[in-house]
Amino acid sequence: MNTYPHEYESSLQQPQKFWQQQAQRLHWFTEPTEILRPRADGTADWFVDGELNMAFCALDYHVDNGRADQTALIYDSPVTGQKQAYTYRQLRDEVARFAGLLKKQHVKKGDRVIIYMPMIPQAAIAMLACARLGAVHSVVFGGFAANELAIRIDDAEPKLLITASCGIEVDKVIPYKPLVDKALELAAKPPQHVLVWQREQCQAELQLPRDCDWQQALAGVTPAECATMQATDPLYILYTSGTTGKPKGVVRDTGGYATALLYSMRTVYGIQPGQVMFVASDVGWVVGHSYIVYGPLLAGATTILYEGKPVRTPDAGAFWRVCEDYQVNVLFSAPTAFRAIKKEDPQAQLLKHYNLSHLQRIYMAGERLDPATLQWTQGVTGKPVYDHWWQTESGWPICANPVGIAEYPVKPGSSTLPVPGYDVRILATDGSELGANEQGAVAIKLPLPPGCLTSIWRNEARFNAGYLREYAGFYSSGDGGYKDDDGYVYIMGRTDDVINVAGHRLSTGEMEEVLAMDPAVAECAVIAVADDLKGQVPLGLVIVKDGVDIAPEDLSQRLIQRVRDEIGAVACLRQVHVVSKLPKTRSGKILRRLLRQLADGEPQLYVPSTIDDPGCVAELQQQLGR
Ligand code: COA
Ligand code: AMP
Repeated sequence: MNTYPHEYESSLQQPQKFWQQQAQRLHWFTEPTEILRPRADGTADWFVDGELNMAFCALDYHVDNGRADQTALIYDSPVTGQKQAYTYRQLRDEVARFAGLLKKQHVKKGDRVIIYMPMIPQAAIAMLACARLGAVHSVVFGGFAANELAIRIDDAEPKLLITASCGIEVDKVIPYKPLVDKALELAAKPPQHVLVWQREQCQAELQLPRDCDWQQALAGVTPAECATMQATDPLYILYTSGTTGKPKGVVRDTGGYATALLYSMRTVYGIQPGQVMFVASDVGWVVGHSYIVYGPLLAGATTILYEGKPVRTPDAGAFWRVCEDYQVNVLFSAPTAFRAIKKEDPQAQLLKHYNLSHLQRIYMAGERLDPATLQWTQGVTGKPVYDHWWQTESGWPICANPVGIAEYPVKPGSSTLPVPGYDVRILATDGSELGANEQGAVAIKLPLPPGCLTSIWRNEARFNAGYLREYAGFYSSGDGGYKDDDGYVYIMGRTDDVINVAGHRLSTGEMEEVLAMDPAVAECAVIAVADDLKGQVPLGLVIVKDGVDIAPEDLSQRLIQRVRDEIGAVACLRQVHVVSKLPKTRSGKILRRLLRQLADGEPQLYVPSTIDDPGCVAELQQQLGR
């Protein structure tokens, strides 16, 4: 039955009633009665007088209600050959014990804890243990370098940092501890203690008494109880790239997030308790927070924590193997992962070795799902494939095919319809609303539904300036797009300096800051260019200072290494060109769109009349070899 139109309307017309009903599906210590409290800036606080604990809802509740022996989490690691399953009871007990250890380390409600971990169960255990105690976790993706970790440390001011001795990238062991040590040296406000999970692939050297061995320290620890949290208490801070060098600490509340995730598990993913969800991402990204850790557990489902890649671990059949092994019902990853599979196994020969009869649906997000990848995945698997659009800031899907309450035909290039709770509008630069098929800024009418960011950590001004100021009464998503005649939403890409590289969100502004620090660089620009596998990749263009004598190839290599050292391997800056000029307007603004067209070798260039030196276009074309 199609209940979407009714559900969507009531979510916007009677948000209090709608979300109160959704919240009733959760276990609260104190049920909320004040559902929505408007703030002066147009946003809102949700379930303000409700009390709950996220880890209780995700684990204890299920242990107490018949799911104690059901599998909660499966760790599957082709890079180490390990597989391990945890029942809800086992996971709850591990989390309670680790929370006891955090308590012994003097971590208490409201303290921040940074988690810098690879994709091992201990990462999820650490997150859930923080939630159990009421400490605010901030997970930092393992592909970020020491400097990025230090920036996050100084912003979050954690009491404790939790790490593992190493990560494993296909067959490369990446020691984490030297990166952590360096980050602590760089940080102005380093935490006093570091807890280290030692992996057999690499033993980390501990600096006593600052560092502590997780396994040894657990001996004799008393498990901790769940703290009672206000719905509005922060559960986590997740840093994401903005337009400047300083990442934004997206703050997520507890009660709104739990309610929204549980709602989305049913409505967007159609997951029933006991079903299996395989989200091939990383706990360092929002996808990992919402749908590897919290969402599936809140729903009483089984989640898979996969330490591997879509290809090379060992081959392009890796996802299909996991789907068969664990009778996966829903698979979710980034389009880039499926493009990688398609590139290595275009005829999907490997897929034929696996039984995908339990797989009901495949989801993709993190970047636009290009029609070719959609069609290929549909074709080879014979399963419905859904694009859905969301952001670190939203925490859960904004536009999706709401399969749990209705099924709409898939239109390639569209992430389908706004999810109940989200009033999505397309706006012109003057803030007026655009009609069907007119492209503009994608904005969401305030208040945002539960689960979305409540602020930027200790930076209300940046929250206001970054999201609320551009269009009065709306949240600006930073994406451009349009709606068609049927109300389907098409997201066409960012309108700011944020880029998406292999589903990883990065800032070109941040890369420019790193390049500009080099003593040889007078001016620079980093733009995103199209890439068949990764969707986009960054490309650097630099002008050398007068009088500096350095071979362009040497400078290029030095700058590439600089970005790798400062931001991390994940930045994927592989090309830096030394050029003599950058195209600018007469007022000195770099013409980035023109640069992108030049770098992509587009035959039809749009050269604005405001360009100060039209001659530089041909010169650049030559220098870029286009
Ligand atoms: N820790 C340390 N290093 C990491 C890392 C981590 N967690 N993740 C990535 N890196 C490194 C890689 O090893 C690589 O290093 P290299 O330059 O020395 O080779 C670099 O960062 C770039 O990684 P990546 O962009 O992932 O490229 P890849 O070639 O290793 O893999 C894909 C390509 C498409 C297979 C991979 O990017 C992928 O699976 N993407 C899906 C992303 C995703 O899940 N996004 C979340 C949204 S759903
Ligand atoms: P992140 O915060 O890392 O989740 O990245 C969010 C950004 O990724 C969005 O603002 C979009 O630019 C892009 N994005 C995510 N999902 C999609 C999608 N399904 N279609 C188009 N763009 C997407």
